[in-house]
Amino acid sequence: MSKKQSISNGANQFRKDFPILATKINGKPLVYLDNAATAHKPQQVLDAVNEFYTTYNANIHRGIHTLSQKATEAVDDAREIMRRFIGAERSSEVLFTYGTTFSINFVAYAWAERFLKSGDEIVLSVMEHHANTVPWLELQKRKRIKLSFVPLTKNFELDYDAMRRMVSKKTKLISLAHISNVLGTENDIPRIVSMARRVGAKVLIDAAQSVAREKIEVNKWNVDFFAFSGHKMYAPTGSGVLYVKKDILKTMPPFLGGGGAIIEVTQRSVTYRETPDKFEAGTPHIAGNIGLGAAATYIMKYGIATMKKSEMDVARYAYDKLSHVSGVRLFCHARTHGVLSFTMEGVHPHDIAEILNTHGVAIRAGFHCAMPLHTHLKTPATARISLACYNTKDEIDVFIKGLKDVQNIFKQTSSRPTKSSSARQRAEGSR
Ligand code: ALA
Repeated sequence: MSKKQSISNGANQFRKDFPILATKINGKPLVYLDNAATAHKPQQVLDAVNEFYTTYNANIHRGIHTLSQKATEAVDDAREIMRRFIGAERSSEVLFTYGTTFSINFVAYAWAERFLKSGDEIVLSVMEHHANTVPWLELQKRKRIKLSFVPLTKNFELDYDAMRRMVSKKTKLISLAHISNVLGTENDIPRIVSMARRVGAKVLIDAAQSVAREKIEVNKWNVDFFAFSGHKMYAPTGSGVLYVKKDILKTMPPFLGGGGAIIEVTQRSVTYRETPDKFEAGTPHIAGNIGLGAAATYIMKYGIATMKKSEMDVARYAYDKLSHVSGVRLFCHARTHGVLSFTMEGVHPHDIAEILNTHGVAIRAGFHCAMPLHTHLKTPATARISLACYNTKDEIDVFIKGLKDVQNIFKQTSSRPTKSSSARQRAEGSR
């Protein structure tokens, strides 16, 4: 298939690969618009995982038998695929983890814990996911460091001018999302890195929402840490990567101690293997890592530009449609990267999600693991649709039709309590 042909085929070229899309929910075809929470898996990933468990299931780096060697080779191959996928120089800079949250905690414990001291500062932003806020709040309990939060412009972008004023010689780390899981805003990595370099600070990028929709070039960007999860890029849950630049890795103590990471252990001492083994103690998520390699191969086969083009077309269409629904307030700009959060006058986001579910439409409602952002936006909760390569404009039409149904139901019941008040209570405590 030529590149031009494949771009013009849009989402339909991907849909055949995702068996779950044939599912019916409440008797209606599934319209899955909750991809920022987790994306579905193509047959190629399911096959890779299934093949591991059915034909060469074994632990890695431990056995000299055939199955163990085959499993070890498959994980080594997956690491090399991930190196290419993110544009790293060396596969030893690619650490397999269990996802973004694990990766950021890893940096907090194995790097910041050792190298930050009282009076140092970390710059975050108000748009961060809890995974990139809570580990630093926890670090703050252990060390007297200062956290600063970059605010937003009216257009839901990072306020780079404010950021420039916050970054000083005291700043040791700038840790930001690549793409916001609520706003769909893409942050400018080269600009962030250049601000950090001026003061000698390190840069951590939370790429949970970007790896399936942007070309990743960690080496070219010169970032220090780059964290992401497999499950949002069509790979199994519990898989993920933390990229750490070689020179920094050399200085870091292991995060977890255990088997697989060591050369020698006595009753008094331990010596460690070279990276990446040093940082991957214990049996890893072998099937997940193999599946992650298969997912990256899947993305590279179609090309990230092809996937992005298709998704951006649908996002733009959704933005236009949503902008014309009365009472809807959007929390994104028109060039959003796959995520559109909104509120609807007089309707709680959880009621929107619950009614849409009766139409077979899956969306997320709540604060999306981003409470400081919702506080900043002065709204306790939003409804959110989030796209993947396989979403179509037809699906957006079904979603919009469902929203009109929400409005009609609320017009009729505006004087009565809604039947989903229990869902709303759950919502208040939702993540
Ligand atoms: N971080 C995921 C989301 O945004 C769970 O839904």
